[in-house]
Amino acid sequence: MDKSIIESIKAELNGKGNFLAKILNTFAMVKEELGEHSWVGLYLYDSMGKVFNLGPFQGSPACEEIAPGKGVVGACALAKETLYVPDVREFPGYISCDARAKSEAVFPLIDENGNVIGVFDIDHPEYNGLEKDLPILQEIANLIAGIGIN
Ligand code: SME
Repeated sequence: MDKSIIESIKAELNGKGNFLAKILNTFAMVKEELGEHSWVGLYLYDSMGKVFNLGPFQGSPACEEIAPGKGVVGACALAKETLYVPDVREFPGYISCDARAKSEAVFPLIDENGNVIGVFDIDHPEYNGLEKDLPILQEIANLIAGIGIN
């Protein structure tokens, strides 16, 4: 992924559109860079239901609810840490939404009180398909957290 995507995403997120328009365009830009059968989206925490709900995304239909601690998304939320899974077959409790996904990266979005309000989730159709892009994806996660998603 070319580092110039950061400037394009900053321009998009600082632009005039509403939240959903900006976030969907941002995810479309990332997905275009990562290629066919990648998946780029958000899981958003519902504090009433105590689950992460599927939020805006670009890619194939995906699992709609993930409990904290479950799957890669839930593990990321519990640990409040970025996780990279180069081979999804080796992650205990991995939740498969699309059999084509082979590697996955997740970034917690944390509010000013230290609560995880969402998880930025990227799937790639190749094993270890995201390693070289992790620093850029982390920067993108920080930009998304910065616009306030709730
Ligand atoms: N694989 C994830 C589920 C979400 S999808 O990747 C879109 C997990 O194990 O939490």
